[in-house]
Amino acid sequence: MLLDRHLVTGLVGLWSASKTYAACSSNLLIDNFTTWINGVNNLDWPNGDDGSMTAIAGSAGQVVFIPKDENSYFYESFECQQPVTNGYGAIQFTLQGPAGGSFAFELQTTERCNNYNGSYGSSYNIVSDLTGQRQTVTLPLEGFDNDPNYDAVVGLVWSTFSQNGVQWSVGNITFVCGSGSGSQVTTTVPTRSTVLPATTTRRSTVLSTATRSTISPVVTSQPATCSNLLIDDWESQSRLTFLGYNAMGQASSDDRTMSSIIVSGRRVMLNPKDADSYFYSQFGCLNAANRYGGISFRIRAARGTSFAVTLGYAQTCGATNDQTVTLTTAQLKWTFDGTERLYSFPFSAFTGVDTTKLTVINFSNFNAAAVFGPMFFYCGSTASEYTIPSTSPTSPPVTRSTTAAPAPAPAKVLVIDSFASSGTNALGEWHGADEGGMTLTFGNNVMTIRTNDSDLAWYTQLTNQCADLRSYAGGYLHIAYSGSNKFSVALQQHNVQCNPDIKPYPETWDSLEAARYGTATDIYMPLNHFNVNLTRAIGFALKGFYSTEPTTFSKIEIVPSLPSGWKLPTKLASGNLVFACTRPNSFAFAIDDGDPKYAQRVMDIINQADIPVTFFTVGLPLLDKSNGLADMYKEMAARGHQIALHSYTHPKMEGLPDTAAIDWEYNNDIGAVRQVFGDGIIHTNYFRPPFGTEGARMRQRLAAALQDANPYIVQWSIDVEDWIWAESDTPVKQLDAFKRDLAMGGNLLVMHYLYNSTVELLPEFIRLARATGKTLMRVDQCMGDPKAPPL
Ligand SMILES: *[C@@H]1O[C@H](CO)[C@@H](O)[C@H](O)[C@H]1NC(C)=O
Ligand SMILES: *[C@@H]1O[C@H](CO)[C@@H](O)[C@H](O)[C@H]1NC(C)=O
Ligand SMILES: *[C@@H]1O[C@H](CO)[C@@H](O)[C@H](O)[C@H]1NC(C)=O
Ligand SMILES: *[C@@H]1O[C@H](CO)[C@@H](O)[C@H](O)[C@H]1NC(C)=O
Ligand SMILES: *[C@@H]1O[C@H](CO)[C@@H](O)[C@H](O)[C@H]1NC(C)=O
Ligand SMILES: *[C@@H]1O[C@H](CO)[C@@H](O)[C@H](O)[C@H]1NC(C)=O
Ligand SMILES: *[C@@H]1O[C@H](CO)[C@@H](O)[C@H](O)[C@H]1NC(C)=O
Repeated sequence: MLLDRHLVTGLVGLWSASKTYAACSSNLLIDNFTTWINGVNNLDWPNGDDGSMTAIAGSAGQVVFIPKDENSYFYESFECQQPVTNGYGAIQFTLQGPAGGSFAFELQTTERCNNYNGSYGSSYNIVSDLTGQRQTVTLPLEGFDNDPNYDAVVGLVWSTFSQNGVQWSVGNITFVCGSGSGSQVTTTVPTRSTVLPATTTRRSTVLSTATRSTISPVVTSQPATCSNLLIDDWESQSRLTFLGYNAMGQASSDDRTMSSIIVSGRRVMLNPKDADSYFYSQFGCLNAANRYGGISFRIRAARGTSFAVTLGYAQTCGATNDQTVTLTTAQLKWTFDGTERLYSFPFSAFTGVDTTKLTVINFSNFNAAAVFGPMFFYCGSTASEYTIPSTSPTSPPVTRSTTAAPAPAPAKVLVIDSFASSGTNALGEWHGADEGGMTLTFGNNVMTIRTNDSDLAWYTQLTNQCADLRSYAGGYLHIAYSGSNKFSVALQQHNVQCNPDIKPYPETWDSLEAARYGTATDIYMPLNHFNVNLTRAIGFALKGFYSTEPTTFSKIEIVPSLPSGWKLPTKLASGNLVFACTRPNSFAFAIDDGDPKYAQRVMDIINQADIPVTFFTVGLPLLDKSNGLADMYKEMAARGHQIALHSYTHPKMEGLPDTAAIDWEYNNDIGAVRQVFGDGIIHTNYFRPPFGTEGARMRQRLAAALQDANPYIVQWSIDVEDWIWAESDTPVKQLDAFKRDLAMGGNLLVMHYLYNSTVELLPEFIRLARATGKTLMRVDQCMGDPKAPPL
């Protein structure tokens, strides 16, 4: 840790002696992020990143963010503070960043507090040599450049992060009494023994406020750093319509009154069913007074469209009976012409609304469909546009190199499929699709696949037993095709018994991304890029389609060599896809999130049975303090159960349109788990894909997000089929499904606590599993993971 500026002045004691402090009785907390959701800090002033980060989320104690580029920053604003007058000698916060990392800390000051007009100057300190662990940083108000007035501080900014794309966190930001190295804080001052020459890390000259124009001085009655507060940017279909949350982490729903709600391209399309259709988005209990002037968003609707806008507010925060004021689009003077335009209203239009306790916006009485763009509270009195933060590059660059064929190349060609018949392939073996939504069209030795479901696959088998592909190990899978290349190719591996009636079947597979390995007409994948046991191949699958555009296939074969000049991409890490426990005589209950109202009952059953289990939890609900899940899982973690990842908003990960959307899910999910359980306490590399949907991109991005080449992607070999039977007339069929899979050798369960009938059967599932004589344990334990706790 190095505070270069400060070191110039020498010993802390010397410096302290040069200043006299006014009496100071207690530290002043600026932000412990308990009011993050309202867009303000503990002093009730705005904080945030103005959309400059790839991801940011606050929770009790800290804010976690991922810088996007050199323009990423995080700020805190407050009413002009007089630390010298009030006896505060230092600013202190906790911080976690990459080991060896550094960042710039900016103090924004003005000439005098009593005539602050929104214009400020910037002074910097570079903090470097981070430990990689959470550490406490104490920055004495001394030695910043530009010789600021330390008695007129208006804001703090963290920026110029040494590493982007990784997680940083800042916590508990405080003005501390005295020098910050006096008796009250001595124990938390980081050591400064690793002294680097000040000149080597001085970077104040490269910092310029000009690069951060969004927080450059603005002279208005608003705080200089007010940033528009996003209500929803329609980032995730599953967040909105599956989980029912907006971007504020508050409830948003149509209560199934619409005929459909479609999220796409940062827009939401509301298709009303009838005059009773409505759609609302909640704000918690937001104080917008003197900060936000109103709400603004883009709308596209046909000429003649009308609807009503209701604004709700509470008389007391927490009370359930909102007061409301409703205006029609006609009263708002909003007319539509089929093009997308910016619309807004000032709160003052809604006479009587208490803007210090805003709770909800509710749209109703539609006479036609409407498409909304990102909706937000705008700062000040002028409605503005929301700028969508530019996304990170969608795909990692494909580096291709000419690679000599590694293993002995096969001498011959193995033609697997030439699409001559709809029922069998060129080997006379079965080929065909999963049921439920994949359209296959056979033509003259071609087959066209079209699907809107990334969960479905089409298979072409080598055998109905185990095919030994070792003699082809040096060869390449060649696929001749045209059309969309947005899909994965998998090589499936049989179980040890080569018996399809024994679970798991298949035992695993590896998926490669068609787009990385192909031109517009041909795909060549080295067989040895498929991380499977070639002695037990079953066949190939085309799966994980993430576009509804069709693909036409004309040949699938294994060939001994590449066309001349062909360049191959490198193999990307794709994790461990598992369906069953591998430790002898083990059995794991792996339970996915459900309805919070059943959570306590599930925990009671598990505690009573005294078995360690694994919980795959969804990130966003974990952050929702109103449902109690975080506290319950913390307790379960403390009791020794495994907490693992299940995405942020529960979409079909492989179905997401681009890697930015996949990364958004992983990074927010990992951030949520860190926030709730604390850094270092839970670091999990176990992920269960929502709906079991798998494909090359979601595997590669998981490995990248966890910075782990071999994360576990946990499927199952026992499915109680709660999604089919729980709400049917015959919920007891869940027990039949459990027994069937158990009899076939299944030992890794999936269930959700969504329905009472499933929860009530849990003790019986546990009894039946125990009766097999197997030991019940967590998933990591049953995988023989050396990092798992001992039994
Ligand atoms: C945050 O600060 C408030 C005081 O402003 C305090 O009541 C609360 O307990 C603190 N929360 C945490 C998690 O530190
Ligand atoms: C913030 O302060 C609270 C209360 O002192 C403490 O429990 C928590 O661990 C701190 N969190 C961070 C991230 O600094
Ligand atoms: C605001 O105050 C600063 C001095 O603190 C002065 O230089 C600047 O001109 C003022 N701006 C306006 C618009 O009054
Ligand atoms: C939204 O408005 C509809 C129709 O007026 C009403 O039934 C519903 O309860 C409202 N929802 C919320 C959360 O305000
Ligand atoms: C996919 O297509 C099927 C059949 O055409 C349709 O029933 C289903 O609603 C579609 N699903 C989506 C998510 O578009
Ligand atoms: C591949 O499977 C065969 C047959 O079950 C087995 O003998 C062999 O050990 C496996 N190879 C590896 C690397 O696991
Ligand atoms: C769940 O089912 C059990 C057993 O049928 C019943 O006793 C209990 O009241 C039900 N609980 C709920 C919340 O429906």
